[in-house]
Amino acid sequence: MSAEHRKLAVSINNVSKSFGTVHAVKNLDLQIDAGTVFGFLGPNGSGKSTTMKMIMGLLKADSGHLNIYGINVTNNPWDVKKIVGYVPESPRLYDFLTGLEYLDFIADVYGLDASTKKTRINEFLAAFDLENRENEMISGYSHGMQQKIAIIAALLHKPKLLVLDEPLSGLDPKSAKIVKDLIHKLANEGITTILSTHVLEIADAVCDKVAILYQGRKLAEGTPSQLRKEAKMPDSTLEELFLKLTGSSDIKDIVQALGK
Ligand SMILES: Nc1ncnc2c1ncn2[C@@H]1O[C@H](COP(=O)(O)OP(=O)(O)OP(=O)(O)O)[C@@H](O)[C@H]1O
Ligand SMILES: [Mg+2]
Repeated sequence: MSAEHRKLAVSINNVSKSFGTVHAVKNLDLQIDAGTVFGFLGPNGSGKSTTMKMIMGLLKADSGHLNIYGINVTNNPWDVKKIVGYVPESPRLYDFLTGLEYLDFIADVYGLDASTKKTRINEFLAAFDLENRENEMISGYSHGMQQKIAIIAALLHKPKLLVLDEPLSGLDPKSAKIVKDLIHKLANEGITTILSTHVLEIADAVCDKVAILYQGRKLAEGTPSQLRKEAKMPDSTLEELFLKLTGSSDIKDIVQALGK
């Protein structure tokens, strides 16, 4: 795709964010094409969640600019919120609502009409194997069921950009497959997804492109196979590449030593 025809879902220019003396994100530049699945990889504390929260307008960048589909996040936070869906690392739902009541409430927040609301909620509940559990209290749901409700809630208003912070954590293989298939389906419909994950096979399987973050900076960016080629590790797994780039290849030695 030529540069002028490239439609950007996310444009992050020279963005930094500190918490006291901790530089959570430092001079980050990132352009994400519309309709792609983009993965944030990086060790704990590398700035993945902070970047996602800035994209969502939940945290204000100290400096730099963030645009979502051409809309400036700082100047037009409401316009951005209408077109994005977000599932945080540990979603907080309302314990004493049923799954259905919660989804109904979220649909009302987004102003969906009654029939659209009903159709979408029922479709998603069925797709996520929750259709016989929707009248139970959220407090009684397993972690994975709560995660699925949070994902459905983020999709009800048909966002153009979906931001998923470690979406597959705690999901059983079947539910993880449902979410992976859903992400592919959304991409085919032109919806952009950003996800963070520590499971590198997931990034390899689901993401068109990934960025490896480390100490708030972008270490590398490209398709998983591009990155392997550039690092001159064409036959390696993304995991080996990740460990090489983040200087943590000694982890393997530690794990090996522990196993002895
Ligand atoms: N609200 C906050 N107050 C203080 N420090 C924070 C806050 N949020 C993030 N940080 C710090 O910013 C850095 C980046 O954190 P962030 O949560 O973005 O990392 P992450 O890549 O999402 O890590 P993980 O893989 O563990 O989820 C860390 O050093 C963290 O301690
Ligand atoms: Mg995080």
